[in-house]
Amino acid sequence: MSTPEIPPRLLSRVDETPDPLFYVQPRFVTHIDAATIEALTSLYRERLLEGSDLLDLMSSWVSHLPPEARYGRVAGLGMNEAELAANPRLSDHVVHDLNANPLLPYESLSFDAVLIAVSVQYLTHPIEVFREIRRVLRPAGEALVAVSHRVFPTKAVALFHATPPSERPRIVETYFQAAGGFHEPVLLNRSPESPHPTDPLWVVTAQRNDTLAQE
Ligand SMILES: C[S@@+](CC[C@H](N)C(=O)[O-])C[C@H]1O[C@@H](n2cnc3c(N)ncnc32)[C@H](O)[C@@H]1O
Repeated sequence: MSTPEIPPRLLSRVDETPDPLFYVQPRFVTHIDAATIEALTSLYRERLLEGSDLLDLMSSWVSHLPPEARYGRVAGLGMNEAELAANPRLSDHVVHDLNANPLLPYESLSFDAVLIAVSVQYLTHPIEVFREIRRVLRPAGEALVAVSHRVFPTKAVALFHATPPSERPRIVETYFQAAGGFHEPVLLNRSPESPHPTDPLWVVTAQRNDTLAQE
């Protein structure tokens, strides 16, 4: 299995032990501060239609979706059963190691939006996963990939360590472009405006493009 266009050393990690070992214990923590979570929730409120079917990839015990919104299916995929079982927004969930198997366990054309929140830096086969995101999206469906600056250092790929946080959204743009089948990605800076220091928030969005012939 290889990822085209990105040298393998840039997708290597300090800790190359299988991911299930790292995620065996649940972590009931949040990975961005409250203001930044609210900024992400606001963005979801603006862009995700009520009633739509969502896939929360690299999910845990929180999905940051607006609490008042009523969606259709909200599927969650992550690494820890206890975290996923505790997530009140998920209608179904699966433990699935994307670094061992980047193929998503979902039918094609199943979702109106796919979300990845503050986790994309852990993918070692990102282009394969982004191709899969396109496959499971419905026509005109959108992927939203939120990036901040905190990482589990031993599990983030070298490419993220080598790139300053404010440039990391460009990596995500590259993943969409290399995967193909998306409209040009759009970068949104949704960092909270606050007199106090907050975590930054960038969201890279890309819509499935069906005007191009695929495969
Ligand atoms: C920093 S947490 C973010 C969790 C959640 N998305 C959030 O916003 O709070 C990283 C998440 O990535 C998931 N993850 C890490 N490596 C993964 C892998 N190889 N396959 C699938 N999910 C993975 C973990 O389960 C964990 O929930």
